Amino acid sequence: MPSVFIKTYGCQMNERDSDAVAAQFIACGYTLAASEAVADVVLLNTCSVRDAAEQKALGRMTNVAATIRKQGRQVVLGYLGCMAQSRGRELLGAGVNLVLGTQKLHRAAELADELLAGRQTTLCDTEAEAGSEAQIRDHVLALNDSRPVVSAYVSIMQGCNQRCTFCIVPQTRGEERSRSIEDIVAECRGLVARGVKEITLLGQIVTSYGRRLIPVQDGKSPFVQLLEAVHAVEGLERIRFTSPHPKGYGTDLVEAYARLPKLCESAHLPVQSGSNRVLKLMHRGYTRERYLELVGQLRTAQPRIGLGTDIIVGFPGETGEDFAQTLDLVQRVQFDSAYVFKYSPRKDTPAAAMPDQVPVEVREERHARLLLAVTEIGQARLQRLVGQTVQVLVEGPSRKNPARLEGRTRSNQIVVFEGTPRHVGQLLDVHVTRASAVTLYGDPAILNPD
Ligand code: SAH
Ligand code: F3S
Repeated sequence: MPSVFIKTYGCQMNERDSDAVAAQFIACGYTLAASEAVADVVLLNTCSVRDAAEQKALGRMTNVAATIRKQGRQVVLGYLGCMAQSRGRELLGAGVNLVLGTQKLHRAAELADELLAGRQTTLCDTEAEAGSEAQIRDHVLALNDSRPVVSAYVSIMQGCNQRCTFCIVPQTRGEERSRSIEDIVAECRGLVARGVKEITLLGQIVTSYGRRLIPVQDGKSPFVQLLEAVHAVEGLERIRFTSPHPKGYGTDLVEAYARLPKLCESAHLPVQSGSNRVLKLMHRGYTRERYLELVGQLRTAQPRIGLGTDIIVGFPGETGEDFAQTLDLVQRVQFDSAYVFKYSPRKDTPAAAMPDQVPVEVREERHARLLLAVTEIGQARLQRLVGQTVQVLVEGPSRKNPARLEGRTRSNQIVVFEGTPRHVGQLLDVHVTRASAVTLYGDPAILNPD
């Protein structure tokens, strides 16, 4: 049997896409290889959001191609995803014989077969394809692992129409295209039947879900209608989603947190900057005042809500005063977690051509300062949970210490505690006894005897 190895770079959307591609190969008779060194098909599912992500994939491919050349094996070497989409044919050569764009992932196994059988020598397909958003639906789940999968991602849409001036995603993922509610619910039901307890709905801009497809009903946006439909799936315990856009976060969605008990009190709400001037240059569509108001609304609806964000430092034209506004916003909001990125100019994006590009040293200095601030805030937020009892969905053995279990709170913090494999998939109340920088430790309040 031929085998495939898929390495993923970037976001949860890419993780999900890779899993669907792996499921497709399995359906075509492949096994999953343990490493590149033994695989017949090696695929790198790439990310283009920052230059560093592209460089990582390119570097890895150079190493893999060199190893395979030395081995003298006949192997399919391919790039999938965002970088494949934006660079296309230029990636072919030096051992690479397959390049597949973001709307062609469902053809990966079929095309790899063509190459393995020698019917083609190279293949590159980055065309748009109607209906491709509905193709990311199969899951591998626990095939190579005895540990059951309790938490799964479900892709609800592809693409983004927002056109933030720094972002390459609208180019690489295309126009917003949403799956139907029925299709998504059917996938969720299937996952729950296989033991999944928690589902994270995924898309680049989930608050735009179904905008042109599904009319607003009783003041509820299509995305809130989808949340309700998924909420009705029997046996599902928890729902999360990522990423929403602050602009699309209406009161219907804020209210959903108070209304839908399965919806976890957690939100990843990318703010990008705390300066109105920069937000405008970024084409984000909200002000810092509106963002702070939204945070207030969410905390009123769910006082224990966990809030995460993404922030870019050193966007073209960002002054010391603009950056001070970002630091100020971070202090006001008190995020539980935040990703801080140095601005990276991307091909054919409006920001790359803007005047006043910020020097690399300034980007680095601001990055270090902001990172320190968000880390301190995040640690203090975690410490506040010590002494409290939190609900944990048990996911499996702890990654750091397999003798213990780990799971997540509803507000998305990792908790490590004593237990047995029987508890995997259960919801437990855990008393938090201490917190490290990013992890909580605790004792289960009552261990279910079975
Ligand atoms: N809406 C998407 C955004 C994908 S990109 C989502 O959250 O799913 C993820 C993050 O990368 C963005 O929120 C932004 O903070 C960062 N990012 C995007 N383009 C960037 C660039 N050119 N330079 C630096 N960071 C960038
Ligand atoms: Fe990118 Fe902005 Fe969309 S960050 S994915 S263009 S919301």
